[in-house]
Amino acid sequence: EMNKFVSNLMSKMTTDEKIGQLNQEAVSDGVLTGSIVQGGVDEKIKKGQVGSTFGIWGASKLRRLQEMAVNNSRLHIPLLFGLDVIHGHRTLFPIPLGISTSWDLNLIQQSAHYAAKEATADGLKWVFSPMVDIARDPRWGRVSEGSGEDPYLGSLIAKAMIKGYQGNSLADTMNVLACIKHFALYGGAEAGREYNTVDMSLIKMYEYYFPPYKAAVDAGAASVMTSFNDLNGVPSTANRWLLTDVLRKQWGFNGLVVTDYTAVSELIAHGIGKDLQEVSAKSLAAGTDMDMVSEGFLNTLGKSLKEGKITIAQIDSACKRVLEAKYKAGLFKNPYAGLDSNRYEKEILTKENRAFARKLASHSMVLLKNENQILPLQKKGTIALVGPLADSRRNMLGTWSVSGEWDKAVTVKEGIENAVDGKAKIIYAKGANISDDTLFNQKVNVFGEEISIDEKSPETLIKEAVDAANNSDVVVAVVGEAADMTGESSSRSHIDIPESQAKLLRALVATGKPVVAVLFNGRPLTLDWEKEHLTGILDAWFGGTEGGNAIADILFGDYNPSGKLTMTFPRNVGQIPIYYNHKNTGRPYVEGGPTKFKSDYLDVPNTPLYPFGYGLSYTTFAYDAPTISNTHPKGNAPVKLSVKVSNTGKYAGEETVQLYISDPVASVTRSVEDLKGFQKVYLNPGESKVVNFIIDTESLKFYNANLKYDWEPGEFTFRVGTNSEDTKAVTVHWDK
Ligand code: IFM
Repeated sequence: EMNKFVSNLMSKMTTDEKIGQLNQEAVSDGVLTGSIVQGGVDEKIKKGQVGSTFGIWGASKLRRLQEMAVNNSRLHIPLLFGLDVIHGHRTLFPIPLGISTSWDLNLIQQSAHYAAKEATADGLKWVFSPMVDIARDPRWGRVSEGSGEDPYLGSLIAKAMIKGYQGNSLADTMNVLACIKHFALYGGAEAGREYNTVDMSLIKMYEYYFPPYKAAVDAGAASVMTSFNDLNGVPSTANRWLLTDVLRKQWGFNGLVVTDYTAVSELIAHGIGKDLQEVSAKSLAAGTDMDMVSEGFLNTLGKSLKEGKITIAQIDSACKRVLEAKYKAGLFKNPYAGLDSNRYEKEILTKENRAFARKLASHSMVLLKNENQILPLQKKGTIALVGPLADSRRNMLGTWSVSGEWDKAVTVKEGIENAVDGKAKIIYAKGANISDDTLFNQKVNVFGEEISIDEKSPETLIKEAVDAANNSDVVVAVVGEAADMTGESSSRSHIDIPESQAKLLRALVATGKPVVAVLFNGRPLTLDWEKEHLTGILDAWFGGTEGGNAIADILFGDYNPSGKLTMTFPRNVGQIPIYYNHKNTGRPYVEGGPTKFKSDYLDVPNTPLYPFGYGLSYTTFAYDAPTISNTHPKGNAPVKLSVKVSNTGKYAGEETVQLYISDPVASVTRSVEDLKGFQKVYLNPGESKVVNFIIDTESLKFYNANLKYDWEPGEFTFRVGTNSEDTKAVTVHWDK
């Protein structure tokens, strides 16, 4: 039916009208991330020169545009409305890296569903999410938008997000089209520098970086966004091998491919074409369907067709995919389905949405240190609440919160005040500027927004915080990165807590009072000093609309933290890239090194500060040795691994039991271990549960030197434990 409808419609379309469908216009209603080339959008819509818009939301504003397309354009083709809904729409959830540390696929799927509900209540039908780029370099600002370094977990999260956004039918008024981004390997940018070159072997690509994209394609994602980067010499946006051979032919993707923002015109700066006409033709020929913002397709494809530089078949197939996406979205049946202003009041920022945001945020925070069981805090005595992020509403939502309502967010100060409800005394002091002390008493412009640096001197700020500490039983210091120090175009060469705040922490520690840091961060930070000197560290990422309440839930023990890191925390920047699933090398690191002529550093151990999978609880969990149903399996019959996990502490809590597999001898070098399973168990104090993993030969497979995905017989070690470094092992010999 769709085929018939689309080919019938296309038979009526002029070439210009087909090209018009390939054009996406940025209509600015908020943050845009590049130079805007559009103007006169209304006129273009009426002329049939626009297939889609993004950057604008709200049922009445979008209805106006839709009416123009439907009533005034010759063929009445509706527009597809997109937006960067990345971790919630108006109700914001934690940043995606934070969401991933919940390891809770149900909650993750629900978060996408809540986001879709709010987005559609605001007239949108397409979200530029999930971002599934694997990243091993925390200098890159966009690690905040992904799910960390692991392809197995990343794939499951990608799938959960697609299901949450798209549900069972794209046409449902509560569902949106998802967009897998950024295809591909954007997270492999050299030196973590934004938009930088990627040069990567095929094995590494297929084994570690491709799986989440592929999983999202398999889950039925409706669209894919090309990445900005150059990939082995050919930028993704003009990379036919990537967009056609891999994506469409190998993986069978039949949805819509949109470029990133001006990625077509940027091909000129990449140096693969002299002008907009040449690069637009290359991008279309590579397999791109829709041009975001460059207007290269709109303004040059007609000319290229006349000059024989592209074919009508290429335009047709791109146009067909755009129209198919609109058809699947139900737009031809009812172009105004989502443009109902009544839904706004009932469905946006509701009590239910906020309660979910609070739950997800509390499940996303990672307890990194808890000396002397300083946490949970009692709701009594006096607490010094200090730090520039303790009472900063604007920083609660984190990166990519274009449609998020920051003024409705709960700060940490408010969360704590709500929780203690007068039972404890709170002394608040800002203590420091977030970063630039040299600018105090001046106004600074950050991304078009004027922010004030405190008029007090840094010394006065610190003194006030120290006084607060001296008059308190415990200090809670809310410190870290400002929201716009993370995300797109926010690479950092030092990933520490900015010096203005580090000074504050040193002064607080010098008081001798226990200091608990609550970290706001969009990436792993280097926390060597903090790990040694602070009493407690809770990584709260950017918690979203309900972040302040969720932090208080954890600080006072109303929720027992259960988050586990999905990206390795390095000891220093020199260790980067650092990731748990590294190779052994021919001269492996010796514990306690450096050792001469081994693969190590003279000045720092190879081990991370906090490993992948790490995260503490207020209780303790003990693991028995795992047992296996068969130590000599043969063929494809699975084996069962069982491990008894006990809650040996005083609090009920949730543990994420992790399964890693090592394949010590193979035809190509393998990682020292790879995550291949995990289960979350909830245990009351004193309770034990046996956790079973069914392991089949799928979990043993890898890409060999010919890129064949298969397993090789021999010995395998199955490791189970509480993080990637703390596991108990059992070995099997598995024959074909
Ligand atoms: O979706 C984003 C992308 O992640 C980065 N560049 C801009 C796009 C649209 O805003």
